[in-house]
Amino acid sequence: RRTRVGIIGAGPAGLLLGHLLHRQGIDTVVLEARTRDYVERRQRAGILEQGTIDVLRECGAGARMDQEGLRHDGIELRFDRQGHRIDFPSLTGGRSVMVYAQTEVVKDLIALRLEAGAPLLFEAEALAVEDFHSTAPRVRYRHEDAEHVLECDVVVACDGFHGIGRRSLPADALRVFEREYPFSWLGILADVPPSCDELIYAHHERGFALHSMRSPKVSRLYLQVDRDETVDAWSDDRIWDELATRFAVDDDWALRWGPITDKGITPMRSFVAEPLRHGRLFLAGDAAHIVPPTGAKGLNLAVADVTVLASALVDWFAHGNETALDSYSDTALRRVWRAEHFSYLMTTMLHRDPREDAFGHRLQLSQLRYTVSSTAAATSLAENYVGLPLI
Ligand code: FAD
Ligand code: DHB
Repeated sequence: RRTRVGIIGAGPAGLLLGHLLHRQGIDTVVLEARTRDYVERRQRAGILEQGTIDVLRECGAGARMDQEGLRHDGIELRFDRQGHRIDFPSLTGGRSVMVYAQTEVVKDLIALRLEAGAPLLFEAEALAVEDFHSTAPRVRYRHEDAEHVLECDVVVACDGFHGIGRRSLPADALRVFEREYPFSWLGILADVPPSCDELIYAHHERGFALHSMRSPKVSRLYLQVDRDETVDAWSDDRIWDELATRFAVDDDWALRWGPITDKGITPMRSFVAEPLRHGRLFLAGDAAHIVPPTGAKGLNLAVADVTVLASALVDWFAHGNETALDSYSDTALRRVWRAEHFSYLMTTMLHRDPREDAFGHRLQLSQLRYTVSSTAAATSLAENYVGLPLI
């Protein structure tokens, strides 16, 4: 089998790249290890930056998002039993974010691709990328109990942190930057209307908690838990009790409880593997970098990477101009590092770090108070949260 651009992974990065290239008449094949059902149900991110919303709209993938997505003009920072609102539009020249789940973005992009009749193979696991320093890179993959080869002009690894794209490279080809955090997130989905209109990021001495949502009837909440914690240790009652404790305030606000429909634990990590180009193999999204989820940046970075890469590939395929492709790695990494820093800052400001002492706790509270009382500090949070403009 042959194609121009072989794309490994049908997460947001791979699907959007496939869609953007297909619209420009560039032939692609997307290989996905899992089933369609699995990738459409996997619970992950929920916040789209303004730049992500714009990209999805402009490429014709924003219709249901515009119908069902919830525009959010701010967030609440909650600490010391009090809430403080950060308003986005007034601090960022009118920008805001949207609550529209990653599952829905993925469903919309899969539907568009299948409608267009473009190749998307589920249960097709890439095994290795070969010959990427030649002009004919290949992906070996397994599909329907047989091994196949996909011959390409270019291969893009959009196969997430545990994918094989990055691991096909020799160790000395990559410079890796990494930080692990001594805690994880327990995330739940619950059939109960959200107890708030906007997201609440709560700092508490027992640990961080986040109240998000998926729709007017479905809540999404997260709790900081120990790094080696398992979901078995967390009964529904224990989860709601702990959430109620961490969100408690002095006024009459109350957390609504309801049936939990999904539970999962995510470790927290910062990770960047540079550069993003190795001959004819490109890395994009989580395959190249991970942020801890506190800044809501992971999905948005994946979209930014492939937006830059798609336009560079079009320049090259349609006009023979390789300049943008040569600078893809540098261009994308500038944005990646801004998001790495912001995600690190949000994470360290809001979580209880078992390695820190009372001094660290006081510094966090001071930074939180400064963030909600200084326009300069609030502006910095707001402009990073809504996302800096795509280059
Ligand atoms: P992915 O979405 O990981 O997609 C990669 C795809 O490649 C997957 O479908 C995978 O099945 C496929 N694949 C892997 N290996 C192969 C192979 N060998 N062959 C073929 N296909 C392969 N971000 C937030 O902002 N907020 C959150 O709450 C949040 N929660 C998260 C929870 C978890 C458990 C994880 C892992 C991530 C979370 N993120 C969150 C981050 C965000 O979801 C990711 O940044 C985003 O999914 C990145 O998109 P991607 O397309 O690069 O990678
Ligand atoms: C969600 C996840 C995040 O990591 C975040 O910062 C905000 C919202 C969510 O899943 O809704």
